[in-house]
Parts: sequence; C-alpha cells; structure tokens
Amino acid sequence: MSGAQRFDWVSRSTGALHGDVVVPGDKSVSHRSMMLSAIAEGTSHIRGFLEGEDTRATAAVLAQLGVSIESPSAGERVVRGVGLHGLRGSSKPLDCGNAGTGMRLLTGLLAGQSFDSTLIGDESLSKRPMRRVTDPLAKMGAHIDTHDGLPPLHVHGGKTLHGISYELPVASAQIKSALLLAGLYAKGSTEIIEPHPTRDYTERMLAAFGWPIEFSPGRARLEGGHRLTATDVVVPADFSSAAFFLVAASIVPRSIVRLPAVGLNPRRTGLLEALRLMGADIQIEKQSESGGEKVGDLVVRHAPLHGIELPEALVPDMIDEFPALFVAAAVAKGRTIVRGAAELRVKESDRIATMAAGLRALGVRIEETPDGAIIDGGAIEAGVVDSHGDHRIAMSFAAAGLVAKGEVVIRDCANVATSFPGFLELANGCGFALGLAP
Ligand code: S3P
Repeated sequence: MSGAQRFDWVSRSTGALHGDVVVPGDKSVSHRSMMLSAIAEGTSHIRGFLEGEDTRATAAVLAQLGVSIESPSAGERVVRGVGLHGLRGSSKPLDCGNAGTGMRLLTGLLAGQSFDSTLIGDESLSKRPMRRVTDPLAKMGAHIDTHDGLPPLHVHGGKTLHGISYELPVASAQIKSALLLAGLYAKGSTEIIEPHPTRDYTERMLAAFGWPIEFSPGRARLEGGHRLTATDVVVPADFSSAAFFLVAASIVPRSIVRLPAVGLNPRRTGLLEALRLMGADIQIEKQSESGGEKVGDLVVRHAPLHGIELPEALVPDMIDEFPALFVAAAVAKGRTIVRGAAELRVKESDRIATMAAGLRALGVRIEETPDGAIIDGGAIEAGVVDSHGDHRIAMSFAAAGLVAKGEVVIRDCANVATSFPGFLELANGCGFALGLAP
C-alpha cells in the first residue's frame, strides 16, 4: 500500500522528553470491531478506530463485500451490519495491505461464505506464512489455495464447515481468532487450546456482540448458528504504540511523559513488566474500565536501566514490543538475553535479524540466536539503519536516535502509517528531534 512512497527519517539526540502523548487507537481491537460490526445485525458505532493503513484496509475490504461504513469524523465509524450471511462476494482481489491480522482473520471469516474471495497483500505480507491458518481451516472443511503457503490466498466459497478442537502449535491470537470467526459459520463446536494465553479481544468482543462463548486464559470455545447484535465499541489507545514512548522516556535523562488512557489488557503489557525488571520507573494512574477492557494513564520517568534475562513467559505478552525492548537493552547497563521468541522472525520483517543489523550499525554488540538475541548495552553511535519497511522497527530506532552520539538515519519509514499515523508529529511534540532525511 505505502510501498510507492518510500522515505527515510533522521533522529537526533535532544533534551528531556516532556508532556502528554495521546497515542492512537488499538490496532487489534480496531480490526476486530470492524469485522464483527460488519457481520452483526444492526448499526454499530466505533469510537477511537485506528486511522492506520492496516485497519483502513480491513474496512475497505468489508466495504468491497457490501458493508456500508461511514466515517463522520476521524476515529469514528458507523457500520451498518449485514448479518452473518449478508456479505456479497467481490470479483476483485481484497487488498489487506501490510496487515497480517487483517488477512488472517478475514481468511477465517471468508472460509464460511457462499462466495469465493482472493486476498492479497503488499510485498511484506506476501512473504508471511499462511498455512498456520489455512491448515486448521482445512480441517474445518474450508478450501483455501495458497502460493506455497504464502499469499495471495484464494478462499473457495460454498463449503460446509464443521467445528474442531484444535491445539495451536504456536501462541498466536491471529490463528485463534481466524478459527473462532470460521467457527461462527461451522456446525457444532469450535474449541481452541493455546500453548500460552494470547490476547483475548476476539473472545471478549464476540461476547459483547451477543455470541455465546466460553473462554478462559489459554482456551476458547463457541458453537456456530447464533447471531451477532450490533453494539458500540470504544477502542482504547494502543499499548504497542505507547511502547516507543515508554522506552524513549526511560532512556533520555530527566524525561517525564504521560500516556493517557492506554489499553492495559494483561496479554499486551509484557513490556511494562520487562522494563520494570530493567529498573524503569513507570506508574499506572487513573485506572478504569472501558468496554470491558482495563485502561489507565502510563506515567514514565527516566531511570537508569540494567540488562536482564527476559523471563520466557513474558514473550507472548510483548510479542510486538521486541524492537522497542532491544533499544532499551542496547542502552541498559550490562547484558540482556532474550530466548523463546522465534515468532519474531515471521513478523512484518524478521525482527531479530533486522534489529541485530540495525543495532550493529550503531555500534551495539548484539549476537543473534535462532529464537532471540544477546545484547550488551553501551553507547549508541551515529549510523544508518534499515527498517526493511517494518513500522515498529522504524519507530524503535527513532527512540534510539535520542541517545545516539550523532545522527541516526532510518531507511524505509513509510509503513509507520500502517499502525501509527502522526507518530512523527507526536514524537516531536514531546521533544524528539525527528525529521525526514534529505
Ligand atoms: C495480533 C496478534 C499477534 C501480533 C499482531 C496482532 C492480533 O500476531 O503480533 O501484531 O491482533 O491478533 P500473532 O497472532 O502472529 O502472534
């Protein structure tokens, strides 16, 4: 989607970071709110919808399938649901852009339709493994063609799905959610068992839309044949977007930053725990509940960090935060060891390899392992790093530039708009010195 307009950033060191930083809506919740509203009966109102390329791509796909979606103002969507069986097929490919969540969840949703669909994505998404969803969907009776396990995906319609009990081979909320969405259309019961609990937004939101579902950490079960009733959704601010500021304010002396009303689902906040183990000073204030989710203001103050052996149990709860953690580890005193994070190799880029190459280019000692890295903290030098079009890597290196001994040039940053439109302005508003590279 954004591949056409490539640009680079330059991040420079500055003084302390200060102020309130209001980060945009949660990406995972935004995708799901759009999908469930689309197949519900009645009109749903979504507030706080992420105006990112990923979530807009999901909305555009559903519009292409016949759903009326209005946007009265930024972050607001009014979705006129067509009911479980009201989507209409499209002869044109459905473009998921850069979004793995969009493509995998839509694959589950489309497997039970009466029509065929073709799902496509950008260069990065076209390299991401899809058998993890198409194999279990095939066990449910779906028929999906892949290109050697990769997109484009051709989802055949008119298949009768039946529920299965499935133990996930990897902890993945995307696989779980794809199967639960297919399970809405299946005969009988669909049960998912996870090796480690993952984010439960699909389960919570299905319940909020009135679908009977049993779930507890690590397990979910539902039966086909019910209906979804439109409801209003308030999307909390995205913890994964707040993460860059948690690290940035932790590493820049004298910083104090407040991140208001961030979603604090425990399956998302592993980085908070990891940073605290490293010595970070992060407080949660004004805790409340919104739409069944915990939210709170995060107040982060600079604190000297030290290296840790990251507890493996935290990995799934911070799966999107490793680029930010690697930057914290590069600045921390001593050694940080990450294990059990092989999934990082199949994200928007191979995040272990991309971070290792980037940190090395900035003079950091980092050893790659198959499922993690060993990082020796120290000084960050000036240098040029390549984000490989990975939004979270670009934003993490923007934070690294704040404490570098010279300019950090970050290549290929356009995809930041997939998850965090307006990052550059917000970052500069609290004291970053981030600009377009000449
Ligand atoms: C997501 C699940 C995670 C995460 C991704 C969003 C979701 O992916 O990395 O950014 O919304 O379900 P996996 O399911 O591949 O772990």
